[in-house]
Amino acid sequence: MAQSQISEFYNNKNVFITGGTGFLGKVLIEKLLRSTKLNKIYVLIRSKKGQGANERLKNIFSSSLFEKLKNEQPDFRTKVVPVCGSCELVDLGLSTQDKDLLISDVNIVFHLASSVSFFANLVTLYEINCKGTQNVLTLCKEMEFLKVFIYVSTAYSNSNLSSIDEMVYDTPLKYTQVEQILKKSSVEEVINLSPKLIGTWPNRYTFSKALAENVVRDGSGSFPIGIFRPAMVIPTHKDPLDNWSDSRSGPTIIIEFGLLGWIQFYTANHTHLEIVPVDLTISALIAAAWDVCCNQNQRVLPVYNYVSSPDNPITNHEFLLLTCLQFRNYPSQKTIWVPNLQIQDKSTLSTTVLNYFHHFSRAIFLDFLRLLRFQKPEVVQGTIKILYFIKLCVYFANHEWSFSNNNIHEMWDRMNEIDKNKFNFDMKTVQWPQYLRNYTKGLKTYLLKESLSTLPEAKARVKRFQLVNNVLQCLFYLIGIGIIFIKLL
Ligand SMILES: NC(=O)c1ccc[n+]([C@@H]2O[C@H](COP(=O)([O-])OP(=O)(O)OC[C@H]3O[C@@H](n4cnc5c(N)ncnc54)[C@H](OP(=O)(O)O)[C@@H]3O)[C@@H](O)[C@H]2O)c1
Repeated sequence: MAQSQISEFYNNKNVFITGGTGFLGKVLIEKLLRSTKLNKIYVLIRSKKGQGANERLKNIFSSSLFEKLKNEQPDFRTKVVPVCGSCELVDLGLSTQDKDLLISDVNIVFHLASSVSFFANLVTLYEINCKGTQNVLTLCKEMEFLKVFIYVSTAYSNSNLSSIDEMVYDTPLKYTQVEQILKKSSVEEVINLSPKLIGTWPNRYTFSKALAENVVRDGSGSFPIGIFRPAMVIPTHKDPLDNWSDSRSGPTIIIEFGLLGWIQFYTANHTHLEIVPVDLTISALIAAAWDVCCNQNQRVLPVYNYVSSPDNPITNHEFLLLTCLQFRNYPSQKTIWVPNLQIQDKSTLSTTVLNYFHHFSRAIFLDFLRLLRFQKPEVVQGTIKILYFIKLCVYFANHEWSFSNNNIHEMWDRMNEIDKNKFNFDMKTVQWPQYLRNYTKGLKTYLLKESLSTLPEAKARVKRFQLVNNVLQCLFYLIGIGIIFIKLL
């Protein structure tokens, strides 16, 4: 009888994961533990908010993401070994003991750790995303039994181009030159220089990921390497549970702002939105390590573009419409206004002015109410931050890229039927309307951590806001009519 070739590949292997505390990292750890018989997973973890590596792992495992695994393998925890460190440090800041352990033990490396911030400065992004990748590769070169290294990049690493193939593109300045420039510049100089350095890239993050891909390409040679590039990663489709996410990345944050009533308008045209559910993404990533190690000849560095539009397209407009339809069914207790996100096809001067007027007049009104209740006014400030963030996101909602994904297809074709079931990443199996019907429900449950038993209370809250909204609208129209009437007299 045929066996899972991919599970076989992971049998008794030791895996090292960076970024294991992040959104993708958690799903990767869970899936590897549940679907393979690996020996150990070493997870690089930095101390954060006074919590050490062990405590952070404990918190992660308390997530509902791990419920199924806990039921199937109650002692799974013994297979996960946290190692303290941070990517940007020499030797990842590992203790000698941990470093020796990794060098002698590790067979497979997944490097996911990254700053994914659109706001971080170029120095931070360079240090974590490029230098960090270089440091991981340096350690890998010492690993005695390493079989494969997979770098997780992003489909948008070359978002300065309109057509993106599965290859590493040169950057106008080499990463070593960027490093030199950053080294000799002051903080202010870096801020001023950044737009020039990133050139046609839409932001510093995507630029740093393009540089990091070049770091990976230059580091190849002594062991099999692959680059995996997911599009915007969204909550789970089905595995191990429906619609799980603890991340505000990609379009999820727009839906969250809409559900909470922070934004009432969003510009999204009919371009394709590149979204991939995290469980399918992680299955493709796990398969990629197998594929790079067992099926690639490494004459060319394998790059996998894991995107949705070539196989199962959905537009920005459709995504938002289908998701927002459920706002009334799954409102949040934390909503600050009626959740009613209206989608505009394009942004013109008049829509922009109207949007700003609408959001800020409402924010001032809400802050006034907060003051009356002796609460700190924070809606105006929040609105400024959110609208600024939205401005950065709108670029991705209104641009379209043409991606090739032949390597993903060829990898799929190489998999046997058992693996296709166990590690399904066929985007065609995602039925967008069904999946998006529960998007808001998942967001409320897992991201906002609100039980569904709070629905009656949340619905009553929305009703109150709706009433205030209607009263204000009537007042607004009455004042308008009054002004016209006075002018006519
Ligand atoms: N989410 C998406 O939509 C998406 C799309 C395409 C590509 N990707 C790529 O997928 C990877 C994972 O993304 P994600 O969404 O899971 O991000 P995330 O939730 O923000 O997680 C980032 C991870 O990197 C770790 N990290 C950051 N700086 C570090 C450092 N200096 N040393 C060690 N660890 C560090 C974080 O650790 P802490 O917990 O300690 O902060 C966390 O585990 C990234 O490479 C990202 O570029 C993500």
